[in-house]
Amino acid sequence: GVRRDLDGRRVMVTAGPTVEPIDPVRYISNRSSGKTGYAIARAAALRGADVTLVSGPVSLPAPEGVRVVRVRTAHEMLEAAEEAFRDADIAVFAAAVADMRPRAVSDRKLKKSLDGDELGAIELVENPDILATLAARKDRQVVVGFAAETNDVVPNAEAKLAAKRADFVVANQVGEGMAFGTDDNAVWFVDAEEVEELPRMPKSRLADEILDKAVQFLR
Ligand code: C5P
Repeated sequence: GVRRDLDGRRVMVTAGPTVEPIDPVRYISNRSSGKTGYAIARAAALRGADVTLVSGPVSLPAPEGVRVVRVRTAHEMLEAAEEAFRDADIAVFAAAVADMRPRAVSDRKLKKSLDGDELGAIELVENPDILATLAARKDRQVVVGFAAETNDVVPNAEAKLAAKRADFVVANQVGEGMAFGTDDNAVWFVDAEEVEELPRMPKSRLADEILDKAVQFLR
């Protein structure tokens, strides 16, 4: 049977990409499918939690019994996550937030080189780090971060753990045919004490492994 070990607990999950508009027809985004975050939200609800899923644009159905707050930009995601984080016992940051956004959004379609070269000179600014911003304010919240890396996966995850004040980081290797959009994943759990390597498994089972680990940090 299903464990109800999250009965009475509040869980917040960010998931999917963010989309940063350039002009009325273009945007900056990434290849995140949202599958991992959605799987975690679904698993948490099945385990009895009150779940808020702050989701960028994805083509996945809302998990049953989960409150979904739909956002587009990193700024909208930060705002929605801020509110959900305040009451959360566990906060999982699975979103692939766009690193940069255009400094200004044009209200008309920008021109390419042939007729004005406005696209070649789009000024980009860095988006807020949602995980780092909220983890800096944590009191009871268990904070779970992700690190998708092409190389030096565990050292990079260790650096993120410290820099962002997460309780643990779920690290995985990305690249050709790995992680993004797939239904399974092989990860490492990195916390201040140890590095644990997990075998490749479906994202649905990985979701429960992540929640098992988070439960150990509940105060
Ligand atoms: O992009 P990066 O590798 O730094 O992401 C690591 C973690 O930080 C992930 O959990 C991601 O959801 C989170 N993050 C965030 N806001 C950002 C960038 C990353 O919450 N702007």
